[in-house]
Amino acid sequence: MYRVVVKGFGDVDQLTIVESPDPTPGPGEVVVRLTSIGMNHAELMARRGEYRLVSGNPPFTPGLEGGGVIVAVGDGVSDRTLDQRVILTLEAPASRGLGQGTYQSHYAVAASKTVPVPDGIDDILLGALWLPFLTAWGCLVWKQNMQIGDRVLIPAASSSVAIAAAQVVKYYGGTAIGTTTRPDKVDRLAALPAACFDHVIVTQDKNWWREAKQLVQGKGYDIIFDPVAAGEFLNQEIRLLAPQGTLWIYGLLGRPDTVDVTPLIRKMASMRGWLLNEIAASGSEQAAYRHVLDRVADGTYRLPVAETFALRDVQTAHAVMAAGDHIGKLILLP
Ligand SMILES: NC(=O)c1ccc[n+]([C@@H]2O[C@H](COP(=O)([O-])OP(=O)(O)OC[C@H]3O[C@@H](n4cnc5c(N)ncnc54)[C@H](OP(=O)(O)O)[C@@H]3O)[C@@H](O)[C@H]2O)c1
Repeated sequence: MYRVVVKGFGDVDQLTIVESPDPTPGPGEVVVRLTSIGMNHAELMARRGEYRLVSGNPPFTPGLEGGGVIVAVGDGVSDRTLDQRVILTLEAPASRGLGQGTYQSHYAVAASKTVPVPDGIDDILLGALWLPFLTAWGCLVWKQNMQIGDRVLIPAASSSVAIAAAQVVKYYGGTAIGTTTRPDKVDRLAALPAACFDHVIVTQDKNWWREAKQLVQGKGYDIIFDPVAAGEFLNQEIRLLAPQGTLWIYGLLGRPDTVDVTPLIRKMASMRGWLLNEIAASGSEQAAYRHVLDRVADGTYRLPVAETFALRDVQTAHAVMAAGDHIGKLILLP
């Protein structure tokens, strides 16, 4: 087997490949030959040293997601079989200890940290599905209990989480308005069936919020689902909230800055943080996986794949993600 190791905090040249003998499963474990590993912005942050709580210090292996085929079953495992296709759960990397992420060709893990996958889902998608959809569904439906007719603003429209959010919003009967920082992405998103936004606004113009307001007839947004959460952009979002609306912050793409929260009082609106680990802690995790996997298997949800890379080509993959030209999910193939 081989795995990616970050040998020191820094640029992509810190990503190295380390070979080792194939793992054998301990009692209660399975070994999964990973067929795909979804990439997330968090891994770039981990490599740069901006995410130590999750990654630990170098040397460490990054990676949150993975899925594949079981190639070995340990003693005492009765509910998993050889050749079964599974995804690794949110808690799988953490259960292995700090810095034991999924950028690996083979992954030994407790069988209980895997979820069997229904037929009809491509091997390339197995390791990249749950994080975008669980992040979006968990916040908008499980936590917020969004309602038919809700107006939802979704920044960073080209990210896989935002595209998943648009699908969730449409599935639950809401209006999905995306925003992007890049004018060239509007037509590219419109050409992508998975990106089912009702409209996408470019935020380069500082008056972008006027268009956002007009699109919902001046009523404001019941929900804003935001991974940017910084400075003037955040000020404008707060002004765009509907009475009693909720602005969910789920990412750290922008730089922290001073914001004016006084409009929240008049609107009796709220700002809240969202981390999908809350689902795991609640015991609702299995139901959430089932929802995502069943909706992907029946074609309701579609993962937009931007590009795939050989896992051994991880340096290129990280550089492509950092450049930000992609739309949808970047996937590593061991
Ligand atoms: N809370 C949670 O549980 C959770 C779970 C998963 C992911 N996340 C977070 O979700 C975010 C997106 O992750 P991802 O893996 O989908 O990222 P990604 O594929 O790299 O997408 C990032 C997109 O965000 C926009 N963007 C980047 N930097 C920006 C900035 N400074 N200001 C405004 N927009 C910016 C760009 O979209 P445009 O070009 O369209 O503007 C970019 O393409 C990350 O912050 C990640 O940590 C959180």
